[in-house]
Amino acid sequence: MAHGLLKGKRGIITGALNDQSIAWKVAEEAHAEGASFVLSNAPVAMRMGEIKKLAEVTGAEVVPADATNDADLEKLFGEAQQKLGGKVDFVLHSIGMSPNVRKGRTYDDLNYDWYKQTLDVSAMSLHRMLQAARGADALAEGGSVVALTYIAAQRVFPDYGDMADAKALLESITRSWGYRLGREKRVRVNTISQSPTMTTAGSGIKGFDGFFGFAEAMSPLGNAPALDCARYCITLFSDMTRYVTMQNLYHDGGFSTTGVTPEVMAKFTG
Ligand SMILES: NC(=O)c1ccc[n+]([C@@H]2O[C@H](COP(=O)([O-])OP(=O)(O)OC[C@H]3O[C@@H](n4cnc5c(N)ncnc54)[C@H](O)[C@@H]3O)[C@@H](O)[C@H]2O)c1
Repeated sequence: MAHGLLKGKRGIITGALNDQSIAWKVAEEAHAEGASFVLSNAPVAMRMGEIKKLAEVTGAEVVPADATNDADLEKLFGEAQQKLGGKVDFVLHSIGMSPNVRKGRTYDDLNYDWYKQTLDVSAMSLHRMLQAARGADALAEGGSVVALTYIAAQRVFPDYGDMADAKALLESITRSWGYRLGREKRVRVNTISQSPTMTTAGSGIKGFDGFFGFAEAMSPLGNAPALDCARYCITLFSDMTRYVTMQNLYHDGGFSTTGVTPEVMAKFTG
């Protein structure tokens, strides 16, 4: 049920690859809540993905941008303002990729060129985006930026590999930009730390089923689905959360503060 929470707001939503993507659900929910927005993804993902379908149903325009390319990002913020008819009220950063994780290189055997790519694509891209946005003075007063992260930034999940470092950097960049943009334009910057979710990025991680099942058993509410993550994003884009900034917000069914559950105990009791 829509509430018009984003009525009149303009946004940029990155990272919608297919209908499993968290960003895909954010786009559907933002549309239902009355927002107009531009969709963006890496040019290569445009060819493989299904973003045009999403653009049709949400009335969005698509602007390709590689999030590691400053010229692409400048173009993205320039074109978004033109197409939407004003400054941008909200930005979703929903971008993550590790060549090391993809190619099975464990944390004690990293390829350092790939490690740099992991950090660039998954974390520095947020910095680049906000620097490009600020350079173009593209963010509206009181706007909101959300990036998606994972609890491996705080605790070790061995198979998450170098993505853990990328997420820690992403969360730090969130605070550093949040401070600056808050003072300058009352723009909020937060991360949402999401439960394991069955998406292309998620299921690319070795042992993902194990991750998913463990988190499910350790969360009083169960793992948070992508749709609910999208709804949480909407609240942060809305005017209902104007004083929430520089936070890492867990959207994980209670996983992050649960010590143990009977389901997990049962594995160790005779
Ligand atoms: N799936 C999970 O279990 C989970 C849990 C917590 C956080 N997250 C985070 O949520 C975000 C979205 O991931 P998802 O699970 O929806 O998977 P997804 O694979 O659907 O989305 C990842 C997106 O990143 C895009 N991307 C990769 N390289 C890019 C580049 N150079 N430039 C621009 N875009 C690029 C991909 O094209 C894709 O659309 C990621 O940051 C991910 O780490 C996912």
